[in-house]
Amino acid sequence: MDAASRIELALQDALQSAANGCPPRLAAAMRDAVVPGGARIRPRLTIAVSYACGDDKPATSDATAATIELLHCASLVHDDMPCFDDASFRRGRPSIHAAYGENVALLTGDALIVLAFTHLASRVELPERLSALVGIVGAAVGAPSGIVAGQAFECEPDIALGAYHRTKTGALFAGATMAGAAAAGFPAEPWRALGMAVGEAYQVADDIRDMVSTPAELGKPIGRDEVLGRPSATREFGLDGAILRLKDLVARAIAVVPDCPGDAMLKALILRETRKFLPEDLAARAA
Ligand code: IPE
Ligand code: IPE
Ligand code: MG
Ligand code: MG
Repeated sequence: MDAASRIELALQDALQSAANGCPPRLAAAMRDAVVPGGARIRPRLTIAVSYACGDDKPATSDATAATIELLHCASLVHDDMPCFDDASFRRGRPSIHAAYGENVALLTGDALIVLAFTHLASRVELPERLSALVGIVGAAVGAPSGIVAGQAFECEPDIALGAYHRTKTGALFAGATMAGAAAAGFPAEPWRALGMAVGEAYQVADDIRDMVSTPAELGKPIGRDEVLGRPSATREFGLDGAILRLKDLVARAIAVVPDCPGDAMLKALILRETRKFLPEDLAARAA
């Protein structure tokens, strides 16, 4: 089965386990926050790394990939709420608070975060892998340096762009690559730098698209960073500077892929994926 199908099945499996007897609006909102998805880049990275490391326990890798994506979807639900970015649409549809109200949106994010961990606990086959995975995934989303910290920087008077990008986005990508290795029984730490570089590159590309694309193309509002006074790669370096930074980050990602049975395949995949980060005309400028 291809990686995309494995991810969708694992997500359905997780959502199903939270659906029975669930208050209907919460169950519907949880499903809407997860399906249909967006780029699914983080769980695809998890599966790709696990595959490169031998993928000896595919059910463990699948559950791990779903966990990463559930946490990402939860972060988007909370990120769109009026107390953060106040964005009324996402993935071309009303955001969760716009469709269900703020109270249900808050609970949807909470429920998806909890589901991410209970799903992992119920599907990972070997206890020593589970304990490694819980630590990796928790660090990617919590304090002091996961997504929560990234969002919390927005509540501080001064924000440094690098720390902001690494926490709000890089950390979960690092979690995605590290968890992919751990799911296959490999040491996770050597995989941190790869995820962090791809994640920072992804956020720089998001900042660029925020400047050059339209809400219709992206399926979400543009210009929020500017309006809310947040640092962004384009505001800090200009468009050409941001493209250069993206190029450097992609080169760094390729350079730090750890030795493993599938490293050549993985490098090719990362090049292919990162080329899609930007619209074609800008990607040519970055090449
Ligand atoms: C949005 O992530 C938040 C960022 C870090 C830029 P994605 O662009 O991966 O969102 P979806 O999952 O494809 O909607
Ligand atoms: C991305 O934040 C990372 C999250 C914690 C959700 P952004 O606010 O930059 O992402 P978009 O542009 O809303 O997708
Ligand atoms: Mg935000
Ligand atoms: Mg946002």
